[in-house]
Amino acid sequence: MSSTQRPNHISEKYKLGSPFDLDNDAAYHAWLENKMDDYPQEIDDIIVEINDPRKLTTPEYKVIRDLVKKTNMAIYAGKTGDDPDKDIPDKLAQQFELFTPDDNRGADDGITALRVAGDEWRSEYIPYTNKPIHWHTDGYYNTLDHQINALFLHCVCPAASGGENALLDHEIIYIRLRQQNPNYIRVLMEPDVMMIPANINKDGEEIRPDRYGPVFSVSPEGNLHMRYTARTRSIVWKDDPLVKEAVALLHDYLHTDSPYIYRGTLQSGQGLISNNVLHDRSGFEEDDEHKRLLYRMRYYQRVANT
Ligand SMILES: [Fe+2]
Repeated sequence: MSSTQRPNHISEKYKLGSPFDLDNDAAYHAWLENKMDDYPQEIDDIIVEINDPRKLTTPEYKVIRDLVKKTNMAIYAGKTGDDPDKDIPDKLAQQFELFTPDDNRGADDGITALRVAGDEWRSEYIPYTNKPIHWHTDGYYNTLDHQINALFLHCVCPAASGGENALLDHEIIYIRLRQQNPNYIRVLMEPDVMMIPANINKDGEEIRPDRYGPVFSVSPEGNLHMRYTARTRSIVWKDDPLVKEAVALLHDYLHTDSPYIYRGTLQSGQGLISNNVLHDRSGFEEDDEHKRLLYRMRYYQRVANT
C-alpha cells in the first residue's frame, strides 16, 4: 500500500485532548459524558420542521446545526413537497458550507437521483434498484483522501411501501466497541483492516482497484470518521481474531433494537443532513403514483460548525 493510502493520524495539536485517542481515557470520558447527556432516543427527536430548505431562518439553522453536533445527523421536514428542483437540496447544503458534491459515476452534477433505473450499468448497482441495502457508510470504497464526510438525502417522492432508512450515529458504535474492549478500536484503526476488492466489469475492465483502509480514523481536526459495509461478499477483513470479534460485535449491535438506531421513511420534502452516519435501506414497492425519487449528495467536508 502506498503512503497516500494511509489514514489520517491524530494531529499533534489534538493529541493532548482527543477523545478518540485510546491512550487518553480522561479526554474520552469527559467527551462521553457530554455526548450521552440528553442524547435523543427516538427519530422524532431529530426531526426539525422548517419552512423553505433553500432559505433557513436563523433559528431553523441553529436547531439543525446543534442536532448534527450532537448526533451527527438531523432530518428536516420542509414545505417543498414533491418539487423535484435540485436547487432545493443544493441550496440547503450551501448553508452548511458544502458547495461541491462528490461527482461519482452517474451523479451527473453531483446531485444523484436515486430511482429504479432502466439503463444497464445503473441497474447493476443496488442503490438504483428496489432491493434492500445493508448497513454502510457512504464511499467506503473511495481512496482515503476522498472519504465522504457529509451525506445529504432529499426525498421528492417516497415509494408506495418500504424504502425505510435505519440511521445510527457512528460515534455510538465507536463507544459501544471501546466500552467492550479498547483493542477492538485499535485493530479497527489499522490501515489494512478492511479491503474492498477491485471492481471489475463484465468486459474485464478494472473500474476501481483494491482499496485498503481503516474502519475508524480521526481527521486532523479531531473528528471521527467511519468506513464500513455490512456486506459479506467482496470484502476482505484482516485475518486477526480481534478483528473478527470486533466486526461480529459491530454487526450484532446493528441488529439490536437499540434506541439509538432511528428508523423512518422520508416523505416528500423531507431529507437527511448528516456527517455520513451509518445507514441502511429496506426494499420497497412502487406503483404508478409512487415512483420513489431521492436526491443524494456526498461531500468530502463535514457539515460546517458541527
Ligand atoms: Fe448510502
